[in-house]
Amino acid sequence: MPANDPGGPAPRTGAISHRVAQAADLVTVALDELLPRADGPEGRLTEAMRYAALGPGKRLRTFFALETGKMFDAPERAVLRAACALECIHAYSLIHDDLPCMDDDDMRRGRATTHKAYDEATAVLAGDALQTAAFEILAHPDTHSDGAIRAELVMKLAQAAGAKGMAGGQMIDILGVRDDLGGVARMQRLKTGALIACAFELPLVIARAKDSERHAMLAFAHDLGLAYQIVDDLLDAEGDAASLGKAVGKDAEKGKANFVTLLGVDAARERLSLLRDQTKAHLEPFGVAAEFLRASVDFVLERRN
Ligand code: IPE
Ligand code: IPE
Ligand code: MG
Ligand code: MG
Ligand code: MG
Repeated sequence: MPANDPGGPAPRTGAISHRVAQAADLVTVALDELLPRADGPEGRLTEAMRYAALGPGKRLRTFFALETGKMFDAPERAVLRAACALECIHAYSLIHDDLPCMDDDDMRRGRATTHKAYDEATAVLAGDALQTAAFEILAHPDTHSDGAIRAELVMKLAQAAGAKGMAGGQMIDILGVRDDLGGVARMQRLKTGALIACAFELPLVIARAKDSERHAMLAFAHDLGLAYQIVDDLLDAEGDAASLGKAVGKDAEKGKANFVTLLGVDAARERLSLLRDQTKAHLEPFGVAAEFLRASVDFVLERRN
């Protein structure tokens, strides 16, 4: 990949939202085909899986994956299947996150949470089955003809979702970290950052990118993931439920430890503004090829839902 000066005007926010919307359409259509249809006595389970995974999410992980795939000339079909797997894990994580034993939320993506629309047992099973669907999609020969690449994709997603990734971060979130900003940063990196980083990592595996390129992209992804969760925490404190499609004020109510509840809104904003420049700086080696990803940092940080 040539190292170019970023040069030229940055893509407008409208151009980014158009690409995000395109990515969302692509992944929703692909997921609709890949997920099992409601049929037979287990139909209630597949219906709940589809309810959670096909609902109106922002699909930003898909957008990140597709943009990275374009940057590194990875075959689009493989990257789209990887994005489907990521969205399955993300949807499962949200179903379980909303359960009464976790955050106990009734609204998600502007609709009833899965356990409210169905019931708790169905929601647990839908999360379980979405998780296995993700690995089935990645392991399928349609994802890549090279079995070693498929195995690496499976390994990366498993690591991002497991005990040292999303699930581990959720454990720390539930237990609570008190007065320890380093601990909060680690929790955020695990619960949200790991899966966001994976959205960059899977296309890099598919494109067989060089180690140096992977390192720069992952440093970018880690900072972006942290910023993503800080924005989520700010929106919980300051956003409105109607535009977010989920309840607000829950983190303070539940005594969650995050940068906003520990430091306050102003200090969390300051941290975010430092993180904005630091995140973009990781893309310098990629020049104009990274213009959409560079501009997407502002898009993510300024999001209102
Ligand atoms: C919400 O994720 C939970 C976090 C990890 C912050 P998103 O904000 O990406 O949720 P959807 O997919 O758009 O609903
Ligand atoms: C959830 O974080 C992160 C996940 C792994 C699902 P939050 O609990 O803050 O997400 P929201 O605010 O419910 O979407
Ligand atoms: Mg939570
Ligand atoms: Mg939650
Ligand atoms: Mg939140």
